Amino acid sequence: MTGCRIHPLTPAHASIVLDLYRAAASIRGSGLARAADEITMTYVRAFMERACLGGVSLGAFRDDRLVGEIHAARLGPRQFDHVLGDLTIAVHPQMQGQGVGSVLFAALFDTAASMTPAIGRVELTARSGNTGALRLYERLGFVREGRLAGRVRLPDGTTEDDIPMGFKLDRAALAPMPDD
Ligand SMILES: CC(C)(COP(=O)(O)OP(=O)(O)OC[C@H]1O[C@@H](n2cnc3c(N)ncnc32)[C@H](O)[C@@H]1OP(=O)(O)O)[C@@H](O)C(=O)NCCC(=O)NCCS
Repeated sequence: MTGCRIHPLTPAHASIVLDLYRAAASIRGSGLARAADEITMTYVRAFMERACLGGVSLGAFRDDRLVGEIHAARLGPRQFDHVLGDLTIAVHPQMQGQGVGSVLFAALFDTAASMTPAIGRVELTARSGNTGALRLYERLGFVREGRLAGRVRLPDGTTEDDIPMGFKLDRAALAPMPDD
């Protein structure tokens, strides 16, 4: 039990989301793709605006404080309208391992199941060294779909693979593609 309240977010929440992502990125070996100095207001506003346009951004609040955020967006071309991608999640370092990430994913899947056009697939990537996150994603039902060898270069100069993962949303009744 996390005692968290889950709430949809908009670009108006960008400054608290910025603080959260900077805190998560400041941990050594953070699983986020960006270092803390690469997490700018421009970056945060951009993903929140994309989430607003047919995607989703959800915040986990405890005692009115933002302790976690997850977002995902549609990719653009109509053939991908059933896909939520560009997924990123961050939980405040002091709150990790307490179920917040799992609750955020459950809320994302619930939201995705009621979106129009229907969502049938959620996708993300995680670097191979982020073993805790990979374990969590597999427990949630994501499946490893390949390996992008040496895609991630770490601050010490070593490289890791990026692991693309997909989650099939069974509840989604996919609408037929328009005939054009
Ligand atoms: C990955 C992350 C979102 C998981 O959220 P969480 O709230 O810590 O996860 P939960 O408490 O719901 O689930 C715990 C599971 O998450 C995984 N996990 C990943 N990172 C963890 C961490 N720092 N602390 C504890 N568990 C972590 C473990 O598999 C753990 O399961 P276990 O108990 O079997 O080891 C969160 O740890 C985080 O924000 N990490 C930094 C940013 C990041 O890596 N984002 C993902 C990029 S792909």
